[in-house]
Amino acid sequence: MAYQQNFRVWRGTDEGGDFVDYEVEVNEGEVVLDVVHRLQATEAPDLAVRWNCKAGKCGSCSAEINGRPRLLCMARMSTLPPETTVTITPMRTFPVIRDLVCDVSFNYEKAREVRAFVPPSDLEPGEYRMQQVDVERSQEFRKCIECFLCQNTCHVVRDHEENKAAFSGPRYLMRIAELDMHPLDAAEAEEGLDRKASAQDEHGLGYCNITKCCTEVCPENIKITDNALIPLKERVVDLKFDPMFIRRRKKR
Ligand code: SF4
Ligand code: F3S
Ligand code: FES
Repeated sequence: MAYQQNFRVWRGTDEGGDFVDYEVEVNEGEVVLDVVHRLQATEAPDLAVRWNCKAGKCGSCSAEINGRPRLLCMARMSTLPPETTVTITPMRTFPVIRDLVCDVSFNYEKAREVRAFVPPSDLEPGEYRMQQVDVERSQEFRKCIECFLCQNTCHVVRDHEENKAAFSGPRYLMRIAELDMHPLDAAEAEEGLDRKASAQDEHGLGYCNITKCCTEVCPENIKITDNALIPLKERVVDLKFDPMFIRRRKKR
């Protein structure tokens, strides 16, 4: 059954803007993105929103609903009480291009700084062999849809613009953790790149104090903190301290 609900949508650019109130029709089974589309079709034809799949898979409709970072296309209207006003704002951590659309190029820059998988030089493609357990371990991280909700939520950059240069964020630290676990990655053997040291020294792993907010907002339910960041931190500690004797290792 259709009903009317109040929405408060942030309109503007990085230079400035304000909330605008709308009353919009909501139908059974709809998600917040449907409401945004109805707004575009009626009262606000110039409202900017980025979306593509409407199936929680392209990662482009990230925004904040009542202050909580979510995908607009996966936020069911039935979870938001009809008598309340629903606030929709763009992601807070990135510069706003217009209305609900952010400039997420910070994430692409960080992605480029992570050295890609280095194939072993003594094997031809087709000769790679891995244990199933190693495949499964990294499979979880490869579910990432690059929505950047985790990057948007982590307080290290959300509240501290100045940390952006030194901190790559949970999505890319998870990528390094995945490569560090990869039994065939030859970055160290071929190029002398220690992924653990790189995570700590170049990508700011030490800034993460395990608040787990990234994990909480991940629409793919990836256990970013427990399965990627904490194990990576533990391996970084092993670089410096001998776990058998709890003593500092000699400098290499
Ligand atoms: Fe989005 Fe999760 Fe990937 Fe982060 S790890 S970008 S929250 S899918
Ligand atoms: Fe940030 Fe996630 Fe660590 S929210 S502090 S990267 S556990
Ligand atoms: Fe693709 Fe929402 S539109 S994830």
